[in-house]
Order: sequence, then C-alpha cells, then structure tokens
Amino acid sequence: VSLKNFNTFGVEANARYFVEISKKEELTELFMDPKWKQTDRLVLGGGSNMLLLNDFGGLVIRMNIRGIEHRISHTDVHVEAGAGEVWNDLVNYNVMRGYAGLENLSLIPGSVGASPIQNIGAYGVELKDVFKSCEAFEIATGQFKIFTKADCKFDYRESVFKSELKEQYIIVSVKFLLSLVPSFNLKYGVIEQELAARGINAPTLKDVSQVVSHIRVSKLPDPSTIGNAGSFFKNPIISALEFDTLISKHPEVVHYPAANGQVKLAAGWLIEQCGWKGKVVGNTGTWKNQALVLVNHGGATGGEVYSFSSQIIDSVYTKFGVILQREVNIIS
Ligand code: EPU
Repeated sequence: VSLKNFNTFGVEANARYFVEISKKEELTELFMDPKWKQTDRLVLGGGSNMLLLNDFGGLVIRMNIRGIEHRISHTDVHVEAGAGEVWNDLVNYNVMRGYAGLENLSLIPGSVGASPIQNIGAYGVELKDVFKSCEAFEIATGQFKIFTKADCKFDYRESVFKSELKEQYIIVSVKFLLSLVPSFNLKYGVIEQELAARGINAPTLKDVSQVVSHIRVSKLPDPSTIGNAGSFFKNPIISALEFDTLISKHPEVVHYPAANGQVKLAAGWLIEQCGWKGKVVGNTGTWKNQALVLVNHGGATGGEVYSFSSQIIDSVYTKFGVILQREVNIIS
C-alpha cells in the first residue's frame, strides 16, 4: 500500500500491511490475531508530523475513530473527540458554538489523536492548556488506559508518548476542558496587529480563529499543494549561560524567556541567518516565508529531506553553536 497520500510531506513509501480502525473494538480484534505480536506497527493519524525514510515492512494502522460530543456544566464545556477526527474540524465545532479554548490552535494540520503526542501549540496556546485526559490502547497488553494531564508529562512539543512510552500506546479518544467564557490569548503581536488591521477591538472567538487561520495561510505552505510537516525543528531552549555567550557574539539573536531562566530561540531566524530561507536544494528546500518549514517541491524522497535537514543542523551549529532538534517524527 502506498503511503504517499497518508503523509503530508507527500514522500513515496510503501507499507506491507495497512488497516484502518474506526472503532476501538477493532484494536482488540487486531490484538487477538496471533500475528499482532510479531509485526512492527506504525500508527498514523493525519500523517502531518512525520517523515518516512523508507518502506515500512510492518502494519500501518490508520486511526479513523470519529465522533465529537460535548456536555456543559456551569461555564465548563467538556468535549470528547475520537482520535481520527481532523483537528481543525474539532476547532471549528467549538468555535462555531462559542466554546472557548481552541481558537488559537486553528488550522493546525493533523488529527485529534496525534495532538497530545507532541503537545501541539501555536500563538501562545498549547494543547496542555485545554487537555483533560485521553484514552489509549496498550499495544503489549491490549488493555485500554486513561491518561490524565499529569500522566502525559506535557512539555514544549513533548509528552510521555514521545519519550518513556514511545510506540507503546495508541490514543483512541481525547477529552478537553473548554469554557463558555473566553479568556483570549492575544499576546502574540501578529494576532493583535491583524485584529487592529481589521478594525476589531472586541474580538469574538470566530474573529480570533479567522485571524489565526489567515496568519497561518500567509506564512505556512498548504500541505495539499506543497508537501511539508509544519515546523521541522523545535525552537531550541538553552541555558542562561549559553545564551550570554551567544548574544555577545550575535546581539541581534531573536529570543524569548523560557522556564527556569532558560532562553528559547527562534529556529526559523537561526536558519534564515545561515542563508537557507527559501533555498531550493534538489526536490527539497525551506519555505520562502518561514525557514523553519522544510518542503517537498515534488518527488523528494524521505532520505533527501532528511539529508537536507542534517545540512541545516550542521550550518546552524557552525555559525551559532546551537544544536537544532527535529520536531517531526523520523520513521525508518
Ligand atoms: N523568524 C525568522 N525567519 C523565519 C522564520 C521565523 O527570522 O524564516 C523569526 C521571526 O523573528 C519571528 C520568529 O522567528 O518573529 C518566530 O516565528 P513564528 O512566529 O513564525 O513562529 P515559530 O517560532 O517559527 C512556532 C511554532 C509553530 C507555530 C508558531 C506560532 C515551533 C517548532 N513552531 O513557530 O508551530 O505555529 O510558533 O505560534 O514551536 C509546528 O509546530 O509545526 C508549527 C507550525
């Protein structure tokens, strides 16, 4: 089975076996199959945060469990969604009804089930700010387990599902805690500027969602026309000491305060300063409006994108002494 249409990078790779799951019971059935334990597995949601390096000799499990439900209690809105729901459909479901919390996360590609794995975030909001719990299937035992927010150990683009429990669970549904009372997070300058440009001074959830969507469309390539997986690298977080050395050599470095006195750097800026912004190298390159996004200009292989990303890591290290880490999951 070709995975080309199941990964937003649009790289060609084949899976030996492929199954689509639309009810959680189907995972239990798979588990009962004697072949389950011997087969390598790759779980796919929207395929929007991965780079496939080669063909996959095992079973690809595409999660397609649908359904969104909500319940209101006082001003709290409890929302539950199936792992296979499209993330932005969930955002729209809530924005349209006036349920607040997801508006800054508008138009992020991918599925609901993938959202906790790297704690998706944008414009000052992270998944962990609205996450209540999730239900996941344990691959080794076939049991379903509930993970609370604390269990997930969320951090910047990190969770327990990317570290200690990597590839051990399959998320089947996620619960969110939203609110009837918006608490707008507009501290990102670009959002304020765009609202002002539209003459909006008392924004609604819809306004914020539209503005965020507009900003994303203007900066980020649309995966349906140009293969990509969003930010390819994380924004590096360095110690105050490392930062002192860096800023003494590069006073103009773009930076933000991070937890425990650390400093977060804009990877896009570091990459642009090394001359990579908008560069086309073979079938790959960086996006013209956002150097942190690697793109497939057509026909790129996973290996080609990967080597290009290594070149970027090397040059950023040489110029700034900062080691970029890939945010996208590399599947080999
Ligand atoms: N910048 C440059 N050149 C570039 C890109 C960025 O100089 O080519 C500098 C600018 O100074 C800009 C700053 O970097 O002000 C920050 O850029 P931007 O607002 O585009 O955000 P980002 O830090 O590059 C992060 C997330 C995005 C998220 C945006 C908005 C990561 C790895 N990426 O990008 O998330 O949409 O903030 O909140 O944290 C993703 O994870 O896939 C993703 C797209």
